[in-house]
Amino acid sequence: AGGVFQSLTSGTQAVAAEPPAGPPAVTPFTVPLPRPRVLALYRRTRSADYYAVTMRRARVEILPGLRTEVLTYNGTFPGPTIRARSGRAAVVKQINALSAPTSVHLHGGNNPQDQDGGMMDLIQPGRSKTYVYANRQVGATLWTHDHAHHMESEHVYRGLSGLYLLGDEAEDALGLPSGPYEVPLILRDAHFDAAGQMVYTMDDALNRTTILVNGAPWPYMKVKARKYRFRMVNSCNLRIFVMALSDGSPIIHVGSDGGLLPAPAPSPVIVLSPGERADFVVDFSRYAPGTQVTLANMLGPGPTELVGQIMRFDVEEKVTDTSRVPDVLTTLPPLPTPTVERSFELRMDEPGTGHLAYINEKTFDHDRIDTEIAWGSTEVWTVKNTSTTVPHNFHTHLVQFRILERDGMPVYPAEAGLKDTVLLFPGQTAKLQLTFDTHRGVFPYHCHMIDHSAMGMMAQMRIS
Ligand code: C2O
Ligand code: CU
Ligand code: CU
Repeated sequence: AGGVFQSLTSGTQAVAAEPPAGPPAVTPFTVPLPRPRVLALYRRTRSADYYAVTMRRARVEILPGLRTEVLTYNGTFPGPTIRARSGRAAVVKQINALSAPTSVHLHGGNNPQDQDGGMMDLIQPGRSKTYVYANRQVGATLWTHDHAHHMESEHVYRGLSGLYLLGDEAEDALGLPSGPYEVPLILRDAHFDAAGQMVYTMDDALNRTTILVNGAPWPYMKVKARKYRFRMVNSCNLRIFVMALSDGSPIIHVGSDGGLLPAPAPSPVIVLSPGERADFVVDFSRYAPGTQVTLANMLGPGPTELVGQIMRFDVEEKVTDTSRVPDVLTTLPPLPTPTVERSFELRMDEPGTGHLAYINEKTFDHDRIDTEIAWGSTEVWTVKNTSTTVPHNFHTHLVQFRILERDGMPVYPAEAGLKDTVLLFPGQTAKLQLTFDTHRGVFPYHCHMIDHSAMGMMAQMRIS
């Protein structure tokens, strides 16, 4: 990946504005960036906030002038953002008004098995389930998405995902940009037909060429010349983003999947595979008012698509900015001495030879426990992507892990914090350290390129 990173940083004129493929054409940067609605609570007690969400079909405007049928949480695409607080429970009643079973998973959440939105823990059409999230974890950029067995891939693709921002007091005290200056960026791609309907075909990466941010194609966002904090999630089924600003200037990573980084990590790139989150600050005060700076993806889903635009920031006037990015953000939990080592190999049938995907040569079986773990233990997992052409990633439910190394090298500071998903390009190996000292029970781990997990690249661990 060194070469990729090098070419990313070597100037930006290489990033051409490429006309988007796939009908109907949308001119990039003509649609303003929408902000996902914040979900309103209906009841508040001393220890918990109560929400109700209806999963239903809706027709929404994604491509200008067209209506697209999508699956939604509460009618919006993507779903509304839940703003929760560490130490305060969020009780979310999910009503399934769709025609298929669903299961709502809080990705990155530390929840017991019966609140985890497991793939067999289904909400049938016409029924509801009330999830209780205790939020006993530090502030983090989490997200919810469907996890119903064999349907998660299409359900997430058609719209069942939304942000879950967990805040805490220590984070508030840092003085990071907040209020209107803290902005969710939910990235994804989609394949539209000429009528503006979303086309779902398994493993269809090459045709999902429309990039959406917060549900809008290649949007633009007006920003003041000051600092902004962005809460970004890659909610794509398959696409990996390797992003940079068009002038090559650094963004400042402040958090990863499971919470804040120990210290701000400036970097010219943001690398996000499906499921991963980036929490970062951009200081637009370095630009003269009137400047337009784009965020581009340096990586295409196939060998021919090398670059693509994502969105544009239009810098407006300077305003007072009292926000800060302190030198110390948090202290990561200590790394206990590991006592167990395991290895996992991710593999997929090569194109044309089958359509299955494997962890340690097994496809998913919900009746099989693949890994038995003693509660309280700390383990090191070596995870290798043995595919020669296909990237994968590796996501664990329940635990936030640490990436000790990738291919024998320490990871970039932006990846050195709490993580629940790690990217593995073909042939890459990562060593992860995990401690299982919270809930007991059965939880999945899987590739989060969710077409792959639906093809079987998923397994189960039991902590007891
Ligand atoms: Cu984001 Cu098992 O999922
Ligand atoms: Cu998850
Ligand atoms: Cu995969």
